[in-house]
Amino acid sequence: MNPFSLMTCIITILLFLVCSLVCVAEQSELICSHQPIVALAGDDVILPCYLDPPISASSETVVWTRPGLDPKYIHVHHNGRLVYETQNPSYFLRTRLFVDELQNGNVSMKIFKVKISDAGKYFCFLRSMLKKASIQLTVGVVSTPIIEIVSNNNSSKVLQCESKGWYPEPEVVWLDGEGNLLSAGPTETVRGPDDLYTVSSRVTVEKRHSNNFTCRVQQKDINQTRETHIYVPDYLFTVQLSSDWIRIIIIPVCIIALLIITLIICKSHIYFPFLYQVPVRALY
Ligand SMILES: *[C@@H]1O[C@H](CO)[C@@H](O)[C@H](O)[C@H]1NC(C)=O
Ligand SMILES: *[C@@H]1O[C@H](CO)[C@@H](O)[C@H](O)[C@H]1NC(C)=O
Ligand SMILES: *[C@@H]1O[C@H](CO)[C@@H](O)[C@H](O)[C@H]1NC(C)=O
Ligand SMILES: *[C@@H]1O[C@H](CO)[C@@H](O)[C@H](O)[C@H]1NC(C)=O
Ligand SMILES: *[C@@H]1O[C@H](CO)[C@@H](O)[C@H](O)[C@H]1NC(C)=O
Repeated sequence: MNPFSLMTCIITILLFLVCSLVCVAEQSELICSHQPIVALAGDDVILPCYLDPPISASSETVVWTRPGLDPKYIHVHHNGRLVYETQNPSYFLRTRLFVDELQNGNVSMKIFKVKISDAGKYFCFLRSMLKKASIQLTVGVVSTPIIEIVSNNNSSKVLQCESKGWYPEPEVVWLDGEGNLLSAGPTETVRGPDDLYTVSSRVTVEKRHSNNFTCRVQQKDINQTRETHIYVPDYLFTVQLSSDWIRIIIIPVCIIALLIITLIICKSHIYFPFLYQVPVRALY
């Protein structure tokens, strides 16, 4: 083999290798979850973002920001460490990247103990690769509803359901024992100083609805539902029932008692013969 063609061969192979590396970097996309990431306040959450096909981001500057915040930097990873100086103070000690995962192109960020104010759109940048992607974080707060009977009427009852401390604003529905929707009055909503919503709703129920009622509070954006059941016993609906009691229990008890007394009286000469002995002795 002549040295010239060997040289050509080596150069070709080198060119191919360099090209394929560049091409892979070119083709690799930064992908963040397209679905909003949903968390409840106080949870830890991961915002998933990665290079696909995977190439190392170990030597990259990884920048997480939230436009609209000042300062806008949530986490800047540069020269292998977090740059504290530029970080928005509300995220101080609350974020991390998975440094061991950077070599797999995984640039996901974890946020500890999320707050309502963390909700919004986040951007991830890989500066030297000129890659950028966004991801939505939704934060919710939920609470269990409480049901009270607020008005007692012979034929109908008014039930009130209240649930304090929701975010975002939830909706309230009432269901009967078979799971059918009941038509309720308008839901009252109050927003507290902590941004949380308190909702309450009243429904008038009648005996025919069956006695098991459910108040369901739900928020679709955070895919959360909380519900409470109340069992309203029959006797709360009608006075009629006290005469039912008389019919069902007192009357049979009286009949049985009467039968026993009659039996005792009729057969008393068998069971209590001494009652009849006195007059017999008196004959002597
Ligand atoms: C990135 O790393 C995190 C933490 O280890 C992990 O939960 C996540 O599944 C990884 N993502 C990918 C795409 O590997
Ligand atoms: C009791 O029920 C009747 C008929 O259902 C209704 O007209 C009346 O307003 C109710 N009274 C109370 C105090 O709820
Ligand atoms: C319920 O009905 C009884 C008579 O059946 C009546 O005396 C009473 O006032 C009624 N109560 C209410 C709250 O309507
Ligand atoms: C009422 O209904 C719920 C489900 O809808 C059920 O879990 C609960 O046991 C019921 N309560 C009574 C007293 O029937
Ligand atoms: C909502 O939550 C339920 C269980 O709590 C789950 O089965 C369902 O897949 C969730 N839906 C979405 C869109 O996340």
